[in-house]
Amino acid sequence: MKPTNSSPFQLPALPWQENALEPVISARTIGLHYGKHHATYVKKLNELVAGTRYAELPLEQVITATAGGAENAKIFNNAAQTWNHTFFWDCLRPGGGGEPPSEMARKLEQSFGDFPRFKEAFSKAAVEQFGSGWAWLVAKGDKLEVISTSNAQTPIAMGATPLLTIDVWEHAYYLDYENRRPEFVNAVIDRLLNWDFALEQLAKAQQRKAA
Ligand code: FE2
Repeated sequence: MKPTNSSPFQLPALPWQENALEPVISARTIGLHYGKHHATYVKKLNELVAGTRYAELPLEQVITATAGGAENAKIFNNAAQTWNHTFFWDCLRPGGGGEPPSEMARKLEQSFGDFPRFKEAFSKAAVEQFGSGWAWLVAKGDKLEVISTSNAQTPIAMGATPLLTIDVWEHAYYLDYENRRPEFVNAVIDRLLNWDFALEQLAKAQQRKAA
């Protein structure tokens, strides 16, 4: 008999200590954001997929299989939020931010003109996303693009490869910045973005394209 897996999706460990991103993001915010919000998406996802075919699929496939339909919207929302948050933690690192490594800088120049113009576009997408959502740097074909998504929406359901993201749900910044989302966004871009991780995602996208 095939063993049943009642909790196929796990909350991954954070890549750093909860206080490692201070003073840009407080340990209290990370504690709640990861320990309550992210953990709850994982818990709800496991409850929703129990006994369904989705319990047997990798997380990315659950997302693409449930995207766009009202029928499985709850599964999509919790699966996509589970994935988006895990990706977000990897996009941040203590002492990050600022100018990217030269290979990424060249790619940004090809798509945006120069690094300041990329930064302006990324910041604008994050600040102007109306309500809850995410700002993304994605690879699409040979180009890099900045996009924003609402609520749980994710580029992996849209045929794009995410390289970086910033969570702009209020739970991401309200304890530290209250309503000052631009201050949060610019501090993350300047001081936390993990460009090495973005470069790894770009390399993976290029390998998939070449395969
Ligand atoms: Fe979040």
